Amino acid sequence: MKCLAVLFMALVWVVSLLPGGALAKEGDLKEGRTLYLKHCKICHGQEGKGDGYALFNPPVADLTVSTIQNKSDKELWESIHMGVSNTSMGMWRFVLSDEEISAVLGYVRSLAAGP
Ligand code: HEC
Repeated sequence: MKCLAVLFMALVWVVSLLPGGALAKEGDLKEGRTLYLKHCKICHGQEGKGDGYALFNPPVADLTVSTIQNKSDKELWESIHMGVSNTSMGMWRFVLSDEEISAVLGYVRSLAAGP
């Protein structure tokens, strides 16, 4: 009986190791997409091409281009966290938690145009 319990625990442990990471990642991307559509799409557009709201000066960034995608995660994270001064890109730290910013950044990464 005791032996069975140990076996069961081992099985639970192995199973939790296997698909866990992948699932968590998919969850983040899904959360990031939800957040993006709620907060960012209005300016950056459905696909991030900067075609949401076109009347800003300076214009909304096209998030799919390499000039944006080549920036580091830290740089982009801070742009979302702190905003970009003198533009309409706001300080999302008042709206989104650190985890939510990371999730939405993950989604922004997924918008990158192919090579
Ligand atoms: C009110 C319009 C508006 C909304 C809403 C908005 N942005 Fe922006 N965003 C901008 C503008 C304008 C720029 C370009 C700033 C510049 O010229 O550098 C920008 C730039 C960016 C950049 C590039 C920053 C860099 O370092 O070059 C990222 C990444 C970004 N936005 C992500 C987001 C995310 C994620 C959201 C939602 C949480 C969001 N934006 C919501 C207007 C907006």
